[in-house]
Amino acid sequence: MPVIVDAAPTAADLAGVEPAAVDLADPAFHSGDPHLVWAAMRARSPLHRQDLGDGKAFWSVTRYADVCRVLSGHDEFTSARGSLLTQLGGRETAAGVMLVASDPPAHTRLRRPLARWFNSTAAARLRDRIVVAVRRVLHGVAEGGTWDAAGETAVLPVAVAAALLGLPEADWPDLTRWTGMAAAPEDPAYRVARPEVTLAVAHHSLFEYFADLGRTARGTDGLVGHLMADAGGLSRDEVVVNCYSILLGATATTPHTISGTVAALAERPGLYRAVVEDPGLVPGLVEEGLRWTSAASSFLRHATGRIELAGGTVEAGEAVVAWVGSANRDAEVFTDPFRFDAGRRPNRHIAFGLGPHYCLGASVARTTLQVFFAEFRRLVGAVEPAGVPVPLRSNFVRGSGSVPLRVTAA
Ligand code: HEM
Repeated sequence: MPVIVDAAPTAADLAGVEPAAVDLADPAFHSGDPHLVWAAMRARSPLHRQDLGDGKAFWSVTRYADVCRVLSGHDEFTSARGSLLTQLGGRETAAGVMLVASDPPAHTRLRRPLARWFNSTAAARLRDRIVVAVRRVLHGVAEGGTWDAAGETAVLPVAVAAALLGLPEADWPDLTRWTGMAAAPEDPAYRVARPEVTLAVAHHSLFEYFADLGRTARGTDGLVGHLMADAGGLSRDEVVVNCYSILLGATATTPHTISGTVAALAERPGLYRAVVEDPGLVPGLVEEGLRWTSAASSFLRHATGRIELAGGTVEAGEAVVAWVGSANRDAEVFTDPFRFDAGRRPNRHIAFGLGPHYCLGASVARTTLQVFFAEFRRLVGAVEPAGVPVPLRSNFVRGSGSVPLRVTAA
């Protein structure tokens, strides 16, 4: 499948694509380029059914308006049966306990005590610690030479989440590994056994970790210590489960947004020169990088009743997958959606979702990305690809395990 750089697929490109022939649940499909198939689905099959042959089936929506409706409309589409495609047909044991697996009003009760730790004021307070964490992951670029944008930045979100939650530095390598296993259990870099077993090991390790930490962290600096002293109405189990969710939310997505955006710059030397010359481009670059990479690629919901959607009908209880990466390339909303444009205005991307589940960590993530690119452009005079990225195998997270680059110090 061709890699599309700054050019929308043509009618002739789309004519040759048959969405029914593609397994959208297959992680291997997503380690290629799904954009041509998504474009064909937006054009010809906006409500697309896939039977997996084992009694499981799901609908896909790919257009911006439909993805927004599914993600934000908890009355029509519940999160309580899981929010990831890998959970299709399984049981969500954290329903009503974990943010991403709850609908209002339970969701509102869980989110309220956490919200003030994640607003823009809290993110601004974290800024100095984020700068320290970013400078650490960028220490290698100052010398120039080859630099792996994915490998070298993998620990950054753990360092940022650790500053927020109060997690000891000695634990970061384990936390990086376990969250990688939880986010992409099919990927060879993380797999320790069958994907289900890898996922179970990751969940168990992370829940144990936060339960242990909760026993000792009462009153210490950071969100875990604070919640153990005063959980604002949350039970101990709810605190543990949501700390897991916060850590996973941060680590699964941020590094792929960074490495995907750096890769886009490496392919566009003119754009990178403009960013080096004008720091004012950084905020727009960050927003376009979020849209372009759409690292949180898909979310699962289940219909609460019979619903007319995208020109078809979804029956009560049926699964619907909202493809965020596709919505963020919809030409109905974005002019020239296959062009990477750091000056795009407006940029109404939904990389952080929307509605009640709008990313809790969006301000922290934006601050991290802005600090990262401000530092990167200060330290790196030029960047170019130095090999083929190794894509992640995951139908949830879109990104790469390795993005080799050649950097020239500023
Ligand atoms: C570039 C980075 C990030 C991206 C693209 C991203 C994307 C998303 C998206 C699309 C959702 C909505 C899920 C849904 O509708 O079911 C979400 C939820 C969430 N994110 Fe993020 N996220 C990022 C960074 C972070 C960070 C840094 C944190 C924590 C420090 C975080 C924590 C969460 C949590 C806890 C939720 C669940 C919110 C809820 O259900 O109410 N995320 N994220």
